[in-house]
Amino acid sequence: MEHYENFKEELQIRTEYAEKVIRRWLPKESGFARTMAEAMNYSMCAGGKRLRPILLLETFRMFGEDEQLAEPFMAGIEMIHTHSLIHDDLPAIDNDDYRRGRLTTHKVYGEAMGVLSGVSLLNYAYETMLKTFEMTSDADRVIRALKIMSEKTGIHGMLGGQSVDVENDGKEISREMLDYIYEHKTSALIEASMMAGAILGGADEEQTALIEKVASAIGMAFQIQDDILDVTSSSQELGKPVHSDEKNHKVTYVTLFGVEKASEQVLQFSEQAQSILENLSNKNKFLTALIMEMASRRK
Ligand code: IPE
Ligand code: IPE
Ligand code: MG
Ligand code: MG
Ligand code: MG
Repeated sequence: MEHYENFKEELQIRTEYAEKVIRRWLPKESGFARTMAEAMNYSMCAGGKRLRPILLLETFRMFGEDEQLAEPFMAGIEMIHTHSLIHDDLPAIDNDDYRRGRLTTHKVYGEAMGVLSGVSLLNYAYETMLKTFEMTSDADRVIRALKIMSEKTGIHGMLGGQSVDVENDGKEISREMLDYIYEHKTSALIEASMMAGAILGGADEEQTALIEKVASAIGMAFQIQDDILDVTSSSQELGKPVHSDEKNHKVTYVTLFGVEKASEQVLQFSEQAQSILENLSNKNKFLTALIMEMASRRK
């Protein structure tokens, strides 16, 4: 891969921009429902890599120019993602106590607020993304982007994956089912990010379909690397517990193939993502570099 000059600085600029956009769209902490607003903002403001909004923006940049149009969707996808994390950590699901370097939402606000603030973030994501209609006369793009967001989040997307994942804790599962779980619980939101960015930027159907393939491979690599870090990292470095998968008796790429083979698969999926990206005439060198950076991430 060609060298990307100042990658770390460039990533930091984008992370800070995503952070600013996200914070601008958060709910106000006032009125009788203030505690829930606080719980929503607690997890949204705890950091996190902001990868999905960054992917959304970078894909938008491949096709379009008026970047402001991407902002409600950048905030929206991070709200949907954060909702998935709050609920993933609940006692009924992975039962984890730390996330993004802090106690999990249900540990601080109680389980009822964990459930409510999670689902409220999912709803607020749509309240936020719908604002895009006020920013453009091209309603058709917004409608198509919203359709992708909803489909990739629900039963045919992330939530479908989470349900099969939790239903099979402690069970032997086939490789086919494991791939279904990864493709849905993790790839789907990355596909939503990149496809929505592409559509809002003006990509046509063929281009959007290629972007979906790129994102699918990025998501697979991302989840396998997450499984690897669950056994090779520390809670200090990750900001969330290690050995969560073992605790929940999960089959993962690591339990099936071992860390070394799983790492090879991360590279393979990442290279696959890059080579599909090369088939597009619209280039984004930062995005190409980001894919490789994610393959070797330590958090
Ligand atoms: C964690 O996502 C959940 C997975 C899909 C593995 P991230 O690793 O992107 O979490 P944050 O947003 O940086 O906290
Ligand atoms: C969950 O995968 C992906 C989500 C949809 C939240 P994990 O359960 O492995 O995610 P972490 O390791 O808790 O972040
Ligand atoms: Mg989980
Ligand atoms: Mg988990
Ligand atoms: Mg994990």
